[in-house]
Amino acid sequence: MKKNRVILVVVLAIISVAFIGVRTLAQNPLANDLDDLNSELSLTKIRRGFEIAPVPLNLDHKNRALVGYGSYIVNTQAGCSDCHSCPTYEPGHNPYIGQDAKFNAPTYLAGGVPFGPFVSKNITPDATGKPHGLTFDQFREAIRTGVDPDDGGILQVMPWPFYHHMTDGDLRAIYEYLSAVPHAEPGTCSGAGQ
Ligand code: HEC
Repeated sequence: MKKNRVILVVVLAIISVAFIGVRTLAQNPLANDLDDLNSELSLTKIRRGFEIAPVPLNLDHKNRALVGYGSYIVNTQAGCSDCHSCPTYEPGHNPYIGQDAKFNAPTYLAGGVPFGPFVSKNITPDATGKPHGLTFDQFREAIRTGVDPDDGGILQVMPWPFYHHMTDGDLRAIYEYLSAVPHAEPGTCSGAGQ
């Protein structure tokens, strides 16, 4: 008799746990769909990021997924290279004059583009291996607040008021990508997107 009761309690416990589990899953169909969609979207973007990176990437000690995702953001969405590469396009490959678009690898993200009194900064890794010599915290702070880590002024022209809404994850990915591009030096140009 006692044994039967124990069995009944165990069976009931199993049924309740299963019921709670099924309910929880059923209550979050959106979350589950989103998880699936997110991982699929992210993988697609990471792959695309690697396909379109216009320079060889140094992946030593880097998180590859972040580098690929960062490339996707920088090269398809944020347009960093339009303002931070002087010139932006390889000679003979300027899309604004009807040629096919090809980024100029030797000046890629090396800054030096003039905007009136302001000049974009070199955001490739310096001798320390960090983009513009900035730690991730300094980089994030600059994008979040618009305060120039070089002189404490407010970053001009640079669209930080847009970028500062990015998630920490996106900023991490951009930083990881910027850490993976080769160091470069600016050439000559008179404005953005040349
Ligand atoms: C519309 C042009 C423009 C775009 C697009 C742009 N920048 Fe800038 N950025 C600038 C200019 C100009 C400066 C220098 C501002 C100044 O000196 O006041 C700058 C400065 C910076 C700095 C500050 C470096 C320092 O320590 O002083 C960082 C970091 C930076 N940009 C990163 C980026 C990244 C990453 C992207 C893309 C996500 C980007 N920028 C897109 C124009 C741009």
